[in-house]
Amino acid sequence: MPQPQIRIETEIPGPRSLALMERRAAAVPRGPYQGLPVFMKSGHGALITDVDGNQYIDFAGGLGCLNVGSTPATVLEAVERQSGQFLHSCFHVLPYEPYIALAERLNGLVPISGEKKTLLVNSGAEGIENAVKCARAYTGRTGILVFEDGFHGRTLLTLSMTSKVEPFKKGFGPFMAEVHRVPYGYCYRCPYGKQRESCQIECGDVFESFFKRHVDPMTIAALVVEPVQGEGGFVVPPPEFLRALREVCDRYGIVMVADEVQAGIGRTGRMFACETFGVEPDILVSAKSLAGGLPLAAVTGRAAIMEAAPKGGLGSSYGGNPVACAAAIAVLDLVEREGLCARAEKIGSRVSSWAKELSQSVALIGDVRNAGAMIGIELVTDRETREPAREATAAVRKHCLEQGLLTLVAGNGANVLRLLMPLIITDEQLEEGLAVLSEGLRGARN
Ligand SMILES: Cc1ncc(COP(=O)(O)O)c(C=O)c1O
Repeated sequence: MPQPQIRIETEIPGPRSLALMERRAAAVPRGPYQGLPVFMKSGHGALITDVDGNQYIDFAGGLGCLNVGSTPATVLEAVERQSGQFLHSCFHVLPYEPYIALAERLNGLVPISGEKKTLLVNSGAEGIENAVKCARAYTGRTGILVFEDGFHGRTLLTLSMTSKVEPFKKGFGPFMAEVHRVPYGYCYRCPYGKQRESCQIECGDVFESFFKRHVDPMTIAALVVEPVQGEGGFVVPPPEFLRALREVCDRYGIVMVADEVQAGIGRTGRMFACETFGVEPDILVSAKSLAGGLPLAAVTGRAAIMEAAPKGGLGSSYGGNPVACAAAIAVLDLVEREGLCARAEKIGSRVSSWAKELSQSVALIGDVRNAGAMIGIELVTDRETREPAREATAAVRKHCLEQGLLTLVAGNGANVLRLLMPLIITDEQLEEGLAVLSEGLRGARN
């Protein structure tokens, strides 16, 4: 029997976390979301220790930033090496090799054919903003096409593109004009009332009608899509949906932007989710796990599109910070060396078969879906009505936390358990975590 790795020493949250919560309330606005009520002290691999000495198994993975775990040795070495040389110079003042090396590496990895170029910025939202800027400069058009339940960030342009009103958008308008929205390919809650087995991919077929009724396609610069929706509920669309989007973009000269901020860097079983679906975007934005949790995002796209912005038209003070670039190169090495894409596939198939088996006795489980290790378990109060089980989802997460498992939630109804365990999690840790989650799901009341 493997030794259990979860170690709970106090009530959860413990006294030190409670004290920090009070300090947080006094010093920090309530706006920044906090998914878990405990404060982190340290983390190694897929184990996290809080300030009270409780040790948890991590199924939350820093909201997708920790695909390679909390303290991967080779990434730390790369950070130390680069920090010993210089922390920053600003790429616009004095350029440096790690930026170029990372751009070259991503140009080779991102699934877009032909010549590519990469711009580095600080965050997922900044990456999406820059993808839109490049698409506008290239096409000379202004419109942006996005999807219901999409999440692209919290800056004013990306918030305009993000779908959820509460808590993201309420009170923060007015939003950008020229942002148009159509339904996503969400099979469990098909916007057209179809069943996946017999549908005609109506979700990929709305555009002609949309372009007649709502907007001239020749004004659309960019279609921005998450190949697997993150915040929207870990929604895995039918591959035909994404292929239909590609065709629409080709037909009307629209730049297709894949938002892989959450789905990229090995999570879905390939380095990038677009590969999983066999779709080639024109620009791909990666972030989150790219630099192992250091702030970095990359906008990689066809050279002609990326070159459309004039000299000096793109950039930011910290974008492509050298320490973050060095970390990212080490992360990409690690993903390749350790076969983490294959590991993501293995984790995904183990967890989804576990959840499907459990769903035979736990009626709360309405749907189980995954693309590699991007795994969503949608909970419903009734399998017929598919009413989101918001309270039960919160109860499952509370149980897990108290028993030493960190989880997150997603979905418009806050009823999807979103599992983002680091891909370096051991089999023993994975099974120990699943045992806790089983108990939580079995014990939760609808
Ligand atoms: C798909 C997607 N796009 C964009 C963003 C925004 O990224 P950031 O929080 O780094 O600005 C996120 C963040 O969760 C995301 O999941």
